[in-house]
Amino acid sequence: MKDKIRFNYEGNFIELPIFEGVEGEKAIDIRRLRNATGLVTYDPGYKNTGSCKSSITYLDGEAGILRYRGYSIEDLCENCSFIEVIHLLIFGHIPSKKEKEIFLSEIREKSLVDEDLKGILKSFPKTAHPMCILASLTAGLVAFTPKLGSYEDIEQMRPSIIKMLAAFPILASWTHRKSRGLPLNYANNSLTYVGNIAHMMFRRPHMDYKPNPIEVKALNKLLILHADHEQNCSSSTVRIVGSSHADLFPCIAAGLSALWGKLHGGANQAVIEMLEKISVQGNDIQKFIDRAKDKNDPFRLMGFGHRVYKNYDPRAKILKNIAKEVLGQVSNRDPILDIAIELEQRALEDDYFKSRKLYPNVDFYSGLIYRAMDIPTRMFTVMFALGRLPGWISQWLEMRQNNEPIGRPRQIYVGPKRQDIK
Ligand code: SDX
Repeated sequence: MKDKIRFNYEGNFIELPIFEGVEGEKAIDIRRLRNATGLVTYDPGYKNTGSCKSSITYLDGEAGILRYRGYSIEDLCENCSFIEVIHLLIFGHIPSKKEKEIFLSEIREKSLVDEDLKGILKSFPKTAHPMCILASLTAGLVAFTPKLGSYEDIEQMRPSIIKMLAAFPILASWTHRKSRGLPLNYANNSLTYVGNIAHMMFRRPHMDYKPNPIEVKALNKLLILHADHEQNCSSSTVRIVGSSHADLFPCIAAGLSALWGKLHGGANQAVIEMLEKISVQGNDIQKFIDRAKDKNDPFRLMGFGHRVYKNYDPRAKILKNIAKEVLGQVSNRDPILDIAIELEQRALEDDYFKSRKLYPNVDFYSGLIYRAMDIPTRMFTVMFALGRLPGWISQWLEMRQNNEPIGRPRQIYVGPKRQDIK
């Protein structure tokens, strides 16, 4: 017998269906709740509300599991390149050798952006935050590629997707070059997708440049680990903006704005700033742990806690090993890695964090790796966005393919009753 939930309300007998996901999660289908009872649900932050059915990413917060299209991130990090994971997320399967070559050549062919975009870049002060610049350049893309803007089916959407995958790393690298007063690089299509990102970010015109293989390998894994995370704040933003049938480019710009917040993708920058503050203030780790526990202190332990993971974030586990590997090279020795490891140890032994199931999340170690690659702290969220781009695109595409209705939540009004101007 199909699962149902039954309840009595104001003398009416209400039955709502319950359906089950592939991994056994269950949901009450409340689509007819308001018509049947006049009631709406109330759930700030959507902590208990499913916004969609999705086939892209599965995560189990209790067990610390994360899979893209059924493949575990551990498996993908060991056996795939980021470009293969991009294809997997967006088109649903790991590409064959031939498919990968075609996919890469489509992207390489579009790896040029209109030179006038440099005008938008130039108009920003050097001190502007890279995320602010990147969101503007990304939204502006549609002005330079208008014919890509209208689509009714995936074949018409593909050119926009390819253009976004080609242009975004260029624009992201430009934000970095601008903040450092360095000349802008163009794509080098003789390199891999990730090797090209490193090339555009780090190549200096007056010196020979070869991407550092250890860094490119670490970057591959970093970007894979950030690639998607089901209905997080920025992906939900991309979905709701896309549900109005806005163009893909402004949807990605909206996702960037959501990711910038320090409770979300901005946390990797906040983690390093926190570790540096601990170091400058004499390494008094316990003081910061006590502040994080103090309800009268707004300070939170950045990089700790998660809405879904009530276990160690599986990404943080992999990132901790990458951090040790990359920072293990003598040239990269970084004293704040030791602070991070001790801070984690103390917090995991502290009942406040244990009782609330607060563990290190994806942002706790990622910044240390970027810092070892001489990426400025303010660029960390841009690096997160470079990883999350295929996730945003895949969520947007799925929402459009499923013809989902425009997102428009209800509310409970608690403002003034009717009043007239006297
Ligand atoms: C990302 O959603 C995703 O999937 C996001 C992400 C992705 O890949 O897209 O995984 C990326 O955004 C990771 C999270 C990065 N943010 C941070 O590291 C910022 C610090 N973390 C917290 O702000 C917090 O943990 C959140 C925002 C991540 C989660 O907040 P929730 O789910 O709303 O949890 P909550 O605020 O209800 O906290 C429950 C309790 C509270 O204490 P009590 O009221 O029960 O006494 O835990 C406490 C909170 O005060 N708490 C913390 C804490 N996080 C939660 N206390 C101290 N330090 C913290 N970091």
